[in-house]
Amino acid sequence: MPRISLLPTVAREIFLREHQPRVPEPMVMDEPDQVAAFAEAGRIDGIMSASYLFQSARISQTLSKCKHVLDLGCGPATQLAQIAQLNPNITFTGLDLSEDMLESGREYISANHIDNVRLQTGDITNLEDFSDQSVDGIISTMVLHQLPELHLLESTFNEITRILKPEGALYLVDFGRLKSPKSCHFFSHLNADHQPTVFTDDYQASLHAAFLFKEYQQLTKDILPSHISVFGSFPIPMLTIVKSPDQQLSNQTRQQLFNMRQNLPQHYRKELDDIRFFMWLGGMKNDPFKKF
Ligand SMILES: C[S@@+](CC[C@H](N)C(=O)[O-])C[C@H]1O[C@@H](n2cnc3c(N)ncnc32)[C@H](O)[C@@H]1O
Repeated sequence: MPRISLLPTVAREIFLREHQPRVPEPMVMDEPDQVAAFAEAGRIDGIMSASYLFQSARISQTLSKCKHVLDLGCGPATQLAQIAQLNPNITFTGLDLSEDMLESGREYISANHIDNVRLQTGDITNLEDFSDQSVDGIISTMVLHQLPELHLLESTFNEITRILKPEGALYLVDFGRLKSPKSCHFFSHLNADHQPTVFTDDYQASLHAAFLFKEYQQLTKDILPSHISVFGSFPIPMLTIVKSPDQQLSNQTRQQLFNMRQNLPQHYRKELDDIRFFMWLGGMKNDPFKKF
């Protein structure tokens, strides 16, 4: 797959002063072709493999002291399944509002014989099934941009703070809002020839729906516990990560991650290394893929 230069996008994102306005998406992904496209294009060895592996590694590093973890907006559970396989001693509950996504997730979990994951219906903005300080870890990947209004992100943060145990583990990752619509087009169309059009369109809409990095910073400061920090990719503010401090990964997990990176096809390995580099520039140290 050819690599397209990132330079014009970097330049636009640095030199444009204002961010484009937010265009919210419908919250739940339950159109059948949308679910199928996301599940299919998002399979673990597909076009999202670099992003999945980066998040699985960083999430494992955050969760390594946990026993039970909640995944907010698990979708078809592809990302969750990889995290669960890397962390067999942790049990995971995936929550989603879309029954079709949960059904696709259950099939995937069962086909891959993963026994430390269960999936249930739930709204991440109202976690009433979970009592105060009852959960020792919470994760969420690529979901928060789907909340139609900022006040729902605020509700989600309030719920996280309510149910998380003191010093509990947290890892939330989502897109950050880009400054230029051309940048959204650039990223969503990088793999357009290799993915269903509905996936490309969803991806582009997601980038337009992302919240601002400074909104995450403000809500984290106002609502989340004090051990949580916010990191953004630099110089393109494409990803925002809100997380608790890293823990020590076992040598076995590090070796696994190292091997998984080595086994990626070269273009996905390059993409993973780009994400590692941009997040490192954004302040995320303790790279879990570094040779030890
Ligand atoms: C883009 S998918 C991401 C899925 C998965 N976390 C991943 O990384 O592959 C976003 C998911 O969030 C779910 N979602 C959106 N708003 C939600 C809400 N308020 N409560 C629960 N799930 C929600 C959608 O139904 C969809 O399955």
